[in-house]
Amino acid sequence: MEASGIEKAYRRGIWPLRRRLPVLRGADLTVRAGEVVGLVGENGSGKSTLMKILVGALAADAGTVSVAGRSGYCPQVPVVYERLTCDEHFELFGRAYRMPVDAERRARRGLYAELGFERYATTRADQLSGGTLAKLNLGLALLADPEVLLLDEPYAGFDWDTYVKFWDLVARRRADGGAVLIISHFVADEERFDRIVDLRDGLAVPR
Ligand SMILES: Nc1ncnc2c1ncn2[C@@H]1O[C@H](COP(=O)(O)OP(=O)(O)OP(=O)(O)O)[C@@H](O)[C@H]1O
Ligand SMILES: [Mg+2]
Repeated sequence: MEASGIEKAYRRGIWPLRRRLPVLRGADLTVRAGEVVGLVGENGSGKSTLMKILVGALAADAGTVSVAGRSGYCPQVPVVYERLTCDEHFELFGRAYRMPVDAERRARRGLYAELGFERYATTRADQLSGGTLAKLNLGLALLADPEVLLLDEPYAGFDWDTYVKFWDLVARRRADGGAVLIISHFVADEERFDRIVDLRDGLAVPR
């Protein structure tokens, strides 16, 4: 995945007090196959904005993004349907990804086991704990086994055990040649990343 010269400004307020808030000022970012890259920056530095542009959920004012292969995206705020269970979410997303039913079931079982939330399979999303909701959010991004995986603060709500499982899962994807971009406002284990990029003053600066 390659992004270059990404610019984005939000518009704030109403006329005549309208102001532009520049967030990205020409950010460049590349994530290659078999690489785990960390995107780090303080609150409000524009990490989520850049991620939304990378996955095509938000239009940039300038710059280009190119992705080879399918991408999967785990948003910072889970987008789930309150009244659907975990199983029903996987079914729904499996359809949206056009996966054969048995492939979806297999992937779902694997993700329940990998992240350890099988026992919530039939629990409605509005009754899940924050950490389990984060697992569902991550599981949905992983369901179709995308070549490029973009995760926005994926482990913020995880307990230690899940945090370790998360990194096992990332390591496996990297070994299979996947590209992973992990956004965080802090990086605890720098050695788990191949590269770290700081988002500062609207630019992505290699560390
Ligand atoms: N839809 C929007 N409209 C206007 N301003 C926005 C919008 N979304 C984000 N912003 C502003 O853009 C800036 C960057 O926000 P963004 O969510 O990208 O930061 P972030 O680095 O992901 O922060 P955090 O670490 O808190 O998740 C912030 O100043 C934020 O208030
Ligand atoms: Mg964010």
